[in-house]
Amino acid sequence: MDIIEIIEKKRDGHTLTKEDIHFFITKYVSGEIKDYQASALLMAIYIRGMNDEETSILTEEMRVSGDVLDLSDIPGVKVDKHSTGGVGDKVSLILGPMIASLGAHLAKMSGRGLGHTGGTLDKLESIPHMRINLTEEEFKAQVKKIGIAIIGQNEKLDPADKKLYALRDVTGTVSSIPLIASSIMSKKLASGTDAILLDVKYGSGAFMKTIEDAKKLATTMVNIGKRLNKDVKAEVTDMSEPLGMAIGNNLEIKEVIKTLQNNGPKDLTDLCVDSGAILLKQAKIFDNEEEAKVHLRENLKNGKAFNKFLEFVEAQGGDISYILHPEKFEVSKYLIPIYANKDGYISKLDALTIGISSMRLGGGRETLDDVIDMSAGIVLNKKVGDKVSKGEILCTLHTNKTDVEEIKENVLNAFEISDEKIILKNQHILIS
Ligand code: URA
Repeated sequence: MDIIEIIEKKRDGHTLTKEDIHFFITKYVSGEIKDYQASALLMAIYIRGMNDEETSILTEEMRVSGDVLDLSDIPGVKVDKHSTGGVGDKVSLILGPMIASLGAHLAKMSGRGLGHTGGTLDKLESIPHMRINLTEEEFKAQVKKIGIAIIGQNEKLDPADKKLYALRDVTGTVSSIPLIASSIMSKKLASGTDAILLDVKYGSGAFMKTIEDAKKLATTMVNIGKRLNKDVKAEVTDMSEPLGMAIGNNLEIKEVIKTLQNNGPKDLTDLCVDSGAILLKQAKIFDNEEEAKVHLRENLKNGKAFNKFLEFVEAQGGDISYILHPEKFEVSKYLIPIYANKDGYISKLDALTIGISSMRLGGGRETLDDVIDMSAGIVLNKKVGDKVSKGEILCTLHTNKTDVEEIKENVLNAFEISDEKIILKNQHILIS
């Protein structure tokens, strides 16, 4: 067998066998297959696609390309939650303590933000002294003891994805459903949990721009779970406007605190409750989602979810005085209000523009080496459907930069104001 035959096979639209895919992954990770050959195969896969069986085999070969975590000494069902990413998406940080306060075990490895999307690890690191690099032993002990740990991905996990993802990034082969599905699922499956809930976003701020593509990606990942005997469910949710009101790292942590104190934005709270109920059912703690929702809302009201967040931050070394007194978080030097230029109703709030603008204010990174300004970002006052009068504040930019005229204009243009009230059709679909 050689790599040229495999490339030609996919180039001509044929199906790859388990042997072909095993050969490709093992020899690429060992360095025997070169980047230029892997690039050609990725492009052939991008153009020709892969069927469900090929995608599952690719996932499994990637999963076992490095270490695989064994969480079997933690009792009960271990759950994980993953979002395909968006703008203002701080759900895992709220949902994790909510479900852990009801007895679930969340063992989560997260990533960093890139481009217009934020990353859970960066948000966590805006809490002074928070450790995101626990050892495997510390990670497992914490999940066992308090029911939640969120850390960075173990370096030895899924080396195939690390190499392939870096190559896809520079060869125009990121947005392929089988390649995205195998990349996400191989990492999630290598981290050893029993049940996984995926939140596949669609809309301007998401990877998948249309609900149809998001459903295809969600179905592909759920099917991988079925073939590999894992309990995988996927929600398909809207990311055409940002989630919640805060975008930017410590601004989002402040919103996490408010939401856990039962004082958060409705769209964010509702999504956390809905996703939490699905996870609690997957964790076999409740067999009825409606009952789980009642308990989740109750623990937001009675402080148990917030107390679990405090316990989680403290366990990972974070300074909980910031959680108890969020006014301690650093505030940017410049707070710049953006005013509405006419009366009406917000009919569109473009998540992509808001995400890019937040990044350019200092809240995100354009390349992996950029340093983030934890206080920078955008706080919204208005979202789709809200009434607005000329001169009212639409949002406030938080930044330490001075040259932001173009960003101000872009943010103003991200809001569309119309005469008629628009109700955002927030489709929320569960694929299982
Ligand atoms: N996230 C991943 O982990 N992989 C992809 O390919 C896309 C998003």
